Amino acid sequence: MKNNPLPRLDTDTDLRDKLLPFCRLSYGEVWIDPYNGNKVGCLDATNSSDVTRLMGNELATLAIHDPPYNLVAFKQRDISEYIVWCRKWIDLTWLVLDQNSSLYVWLGADQDQHFQPLPDFMVMMREFPFASRSFITMRNQRGYGTQKNWMAVRQELLYYTKGKPYFEVQYTDIPKILRGYYKEVGGEMTENLQRSKSDTIRPGNVWVDIQQVFYRMEENVSGCYAQKPLKSIERIIEASSQKDDLVIDFFSHSGTTLIASALSKRRCFTMDIDPIYCEITIRRLERFRKTGKLGWQNGNPFEHELEESAYTQPVSEGTSVQPEFAQPTLF
Ligand SMILES: C[S@@+](CC[C@H](N)C(=O)[O-])C[C@H]1O[C@@H](n2cnc3c(N)ncnc32)[C@H](O)[C@@H]1O
Repeated sequence: MKNNPLPRLDTDTDLRDKLLPFCRLSYGEVWIDPYNGNKVGCLDATNSSDVTRLMGNELATLAIHDPPYNLVAFKQRDISEYIVWCRKWIDLTWLVLDQNSSLYVWLGADQDQHFQPLPDFMVMMREFPFASRSFITMRNQRGYGTQKNWMAVRQELLYYTKGKPYFEVQYTDIPKILRGYYKEVGGEMTENLQRSKSDTIRPGNVWVDIQQVFYRMEENVSGCYAQKPLKSIERIIEASSQKDDLVIDFFSHSGTTLIASALSKRRCFTMDIDPIYCEITIRRLERFRKTGKLGWQNGNPFEHELEESAYTQPVSEGTSVQPEFAQPTLF
């Protein structure tokens, strides 16, 4: 079995220098998918002319943003500076969303620093005309184990709306087993399973059925330190958009939103400020179309260029190649 994962690509400067010549996009450039017009831009989410370059004249039905959380994954800024930075891309998101649309934002809370930036971000959002709709928690299946604190296994997802967007109830694969909740319907006493639209439960606003990405999963993209599970993004897309709608994501990274949009037959415009993540995003879609594979289990997006190189690391049984995931409150 081939095992050649990459280290974190944002912090390894030697590896970055090696990979940059293989990246199609430089800052300011946009790749347009010849197949259906999806776009990947090497752009800055806080720059209005960059956002206009990505969007053209189109408006999106759904935005799914997963910004750096001002924690380990980002050169840490003062919280007020971070919020000023967030305000810019939220402002631009408002402008490019359709009059009936949805916005989802993944954000962390650093338990060692008064839970910043999540509460600060929530308060900042009150400045905008978005309506707050839900505060979702996704449970990671593996967390940071410590005997001195509660294990950190949560990821937070905020759901806001503009106007009156589409929403379709979603279901998990978890069977409905609780009975009871009797109610009279049409003169007959019914129990809840008789009244149900599905044999399985809804995720509600606590998602316990989604596996965090790790190296053994087919969708794993090694080198990406903050990859979201496809199932979580597909759930959002299926709930808050319809076929052929336009989905946007200003922080593409491993390209999860682009792949999930392709799986759900939506169009997607996405960007990342880093040319390496833009290249990975494009390669992931191309590879999916060619092979049906969702990621690089036991490989990496630059495996042809880096074959047998010193940059790949051996993986031992049961060890995650992305230890950052194991840290508290990160992703
Ligand atoms: C938390 S990751 C997104 C993870 C993504 N949801 C996934 O599943 O792979 C954040 C990404 O935002 C990018 N980024 C940081 N600042 C940015 C900016 N100003 N504009 C666009 N992208 C930016 C980083 O390069 C990084 O790849």
